[in-house]
Amino acid sequence: MEKIVALCKRRGFVFQNSEIYGGQNGFWDYGPLGTELKRNVRNVWYEDMVQSHNELLLQDGAPVKFQMVGLETSIIMHPQVWKCSGHYDLFHDMMVDCRETRGRYRLDQVRVRRVSCNEKTVPGQLDGTPPDSIRDGDQKEFEHVIVASTAEEFQEDLTAEALRVFGLKKKYADRVQWDGDATTLDRIAEADFAYVVAPGASRAGSFTAPREFNLMFKTIIGALGSSEDAAFLRPETAQGIFVNFRNVADSTRVKLPFGVAQIGKSFRNEITPRNFTFRSREFEQMEIEFFCHPEQSRDWYTWWRDHRYQWYQRLGISPDRLILRDHEASELAHYSVGTADIEYAFPFLEDGEYGELEGVAHRGNFDLRSHMEGKLAKNDNGELEVEQDEQGQPVHRGSGKDLSYFDDQSRERFVPHVIEPSAGADRATLAFICEAYHEDAQPDEHGKPQERTVMKFHPRLAPVKAAVFPLIKKEGMPEKAAEIFGELKAAGLNCHYDQQGAIGRRYRRQDEIGTPFCITVDGDTASDNTVTLRDRDSLEQIRVGADRIVQEISDRLKV
Ligand code: GAP
Repeated sequence: MEKIVALCKRRGFVFQNSEIYGGQNGFWDYGPLGTELKRNVRNVWYEDMVQSHNELLLQDGAPVKFQMVGLETSIIMHPQVWKCSGHYDLFHDMMVDCRETRGRYRLDQVRVRRVSCNEKTVPGQLDGTPPDSIRDGDQKEFEHVIVASTAEEFQEDLTAEALRVFGLKKKYADRVQWDGDATTLDRIAEADFAYVVAPGASRAGSFTAPREFNLMFKTIIGALGSSEDAAFLRPETAQGIFVNFRNVADSTRVKLPFGVAQIGKSFRNEITPRNFTFRSREFEQMEIEFFCHPEQSRDWYTWWRDHRYQWYQRLGISPDRLILRDHEASELAHYSVGTADIEYAFPFLEDGEYGELEGVAHRGNFDLRSHMEGKLAKNDNGELEVEQDEQGQPVHRGSGKDLSYFDDQSRERFVPHVIEPSAGADRATLAFICEAYHEDAQPDEHGKPQERTVMKFHPRLAPVKAAVFPLIKKEGMPEKAAEIFGELKAAGLNCHYDQQGAIGRRYRRQDEIGTPFCITVDGDTASDNTVTLRDRDSLEQIRVGADRIVQEISDRLKV
């Protein structure tokens, strides 16, 4: 992962935000190549899901076609939107603070493991001195410590913490006795917090009791605004689609089933942003709300899960590193009937662990009904009904507008069910970067093996589609190369022109940024009007007519 992060900075994919001022945790900037790559991710998603979508579902043997349309809604919405969606009351993480180190952690991100090291078992063999609280405290505390880690490689880090706590050198690691497997802080009883040594802390029991932290960023609208005028930056783009359901249905005359797609920025005040761009405070989502008849919703849910899972693979993500994981009932969001995550084995995770790229959720009719009737909650029978306060009034009032759908064929009126494939543009971009990274050794023009780093981006995603080189800076080669470069640009292809250095080095510069094709104008070009076309992955080099090169590249990009 360190190599990938270094390449991203060196070649201008991703920069730390506000770096000259020391950076801003949880915010990232895309450099020139990263901007092209992420734009391609968004464009390919929008093209495949909306513009060129022509898929259908076979239902009882009959094809069901559906329309997909786009939408672009604003980042700040009416505060009532977030009250009815549930974000105002429920969109929080549980966090703990360490009173000693002042560290702040998300409860479910602190890994803990019970450990003991009874002094009697290692008499006089401790190399260091255990912290006072542990050594001089009652023996029980010494025998019963819970070490904590927030590192991705937590197993190793927990061992290091245990050694630190017991004052042991690394070679005595076998003297600590583990009691059970590692778990997370949210899974142990609060009474046991007294035994937890927070990361880097010198004594046990420094964690505060867990408390809620709402993840929405607050702002104030208007020059004279007071806290009464508080508004929120959207934590998801989805709600912009729900509140426009009536507008879209009325203005486009789409018929159910249909989908509305939106790409846009979302904001979450994450307690512990980390893992490069994976968990950021400002990020971009690519969301679809797919509206359908309640009786067909399960079929559509399955269809979308598989359809989205295939999408990543078509763009080069290996099935060995991609899983489709169904949520357990306890993991489901308050509105969800079923959810599956598409997850990727990011290199910053431990072996066998995966990070979420996209969630595909069956949301039932929770959102449309909540915006219509007032915020819903499940009653004792598990049914959704308007949540009421002690006076029997809705906790949060809905819009009162009719967000149902009338099917003029079946003459039936109902509130549509929703399937939501919700992807992160930054996480997808990061997964494509990680997947593309390869190192190999290739012979140079003298047959000597040269190590190369090559980003094997899918051609549709590659930030630069082709690079044009004159072999030497004379004999009309630069002029011819510039002419080809101009033709490729005119065809809308992002290209590079490079005439500096040996040809092998120029190839390697392009390999490192994932350019799929390199075109070289050489000594033969003047006589037969052909150029060399080199393929980044197969390294195959063929001669192509200079007047056919734009077509050849365009065809090769259509994979
Ligand atoms: N509307 C549903 C929704 O927002 P989510 O699982 O909270 O669901 C959807 O978010 C996707 O947005 C995630 O799968 C992930 O790709 C992306 N995402 C969420 N939080 C993120 C963060 N802090 N940084 C980067 N991407 C994030």
